[in-house]
Amino acid sequence: MGNFLAGKVVAVTGAGRGIGRAVALACAAEGARVVVNDYGVSMEGSAPTSEVAEAVVKEIAAAGGEAVAVADDISTMAGGQRIVDVALARYGRVDGVVCVAGILRERMLFNMAEEEWDPVVATHLKGTFTVFRAASAVMRKQGGGTLIGFTSGNHQGSVAQANYSAAKGGIISLVRSAALGLHKYGVTANAVAPVARTRMSANVPMELAEIGEPEDVAALVVYLLSERARDEGITGQVYTVAGPKIAVWAQPRELRAAYAQGGAWTPERIAQCLPGTVGTDPMPMLARLEAMAEAAARGARPNA
Ligand SMILES: NC(=O)c1ccc[n+]([C@@H]2O[C@H](COP(=O)([O-])OP(=O)(O)OC[C@H]3O[C@@H](n4cnc5c(N)ncnc54)[C@H](O)[C@@H]3O)[C@@H](O)[C@H]2O)c1
Repeated sequence: MGNFLAGKVVAVTGAGRGIGRAVALACAAEGARVVVNDYGVSMEGSAPTSEVAEAVVKEIAAAGGEAVAVADDISTMAGGQRIVDVALARYGRVDGVVCVAGILRERMLFNMAEEEWDPVVATHLKGTFTVFRAASAVMRKQGGGTLIGFTSGNHQGSVAQANYSAAKGGIISLVRSAALGLHKYGVTANAVAPVARTRMSANVPMELAEIGEPEDVAALVVYLLSERARDEGITGQVYTVAGPKIAVWAQPRELRAAYAQGGAWTPERIAQCLPGTVGTDPMPMLARLEAMAEAAARGARPNA
């Protein structure tokens, strides 16, 4: 056991399986008391069971740590609130929340039903809001805390998971908003984009060039929750972690601008000016998609 999180109270959603479970175990091993939340659902979000969260609490206790299970659905305001209420009732404070819970409902955009859009956005994006909302109210009064959201490289766009991609992009904007809005209260907010072997990544149809284990992701999350990261002032960041690699994503910025000359913009003035001055920013995902299609046409298994 280390002491990166000694004395801290951390709540982790989706902590019954995969990356969330590794995060909960690592937080406990580093000295945190942990609220283990998991609704215990299938990858599509059905058939809930409380056994999944309880099993991880037993694992933590068996290793000498302290944890409590909450099997609520974090896509509800009541579920998000309960996680924080349980942390306060049981341990008296909440220093960190880590929103890992997620589901997948894959479908091409032109075939996607409301039943495939709503639950995915509700679990990822609203499920991060409900927990951030409840936790940040407490952290503001405490004068400090750490919020961590889970995004994905797919926030850049996705062929068959527009619902998931949109939710993951929304989480980045939510994290940046939390970083800005809570800075003066000593609360940091960051996002993690993992690539790790779990039941969810087993679903990806292509070979992933860079992938690791849930424990690799857990190490980064523990660091971000710790005073070491808080002392460095790390906030509003998006980090990829894939096995041995950790990478930081750029902040969105304007690339190039042009100003209307000789009067307001008209479609004709824009047509004359935009291609040669403002131009475009080529989409890396589109280039990768074309390379994958070429590989598939050669009969090779596409790499991503
Ligand atoms: N595994 C990867 O390579 C990868 C890549 C990119 C992003 N992610 C993200 O990382 C996170 C964890 O993914 P994973 O691979 O460990 O998935 P997983 O399916 O192994 O675990 C997700 C957990 O979330 C729980 N959950 C689902 N809906 C819930 C709800 N409403 N309330 C509470 N719990 C709920 C599930 O029961 C499950 O135990 C997800 O947000 C996922 O989108 C994973």
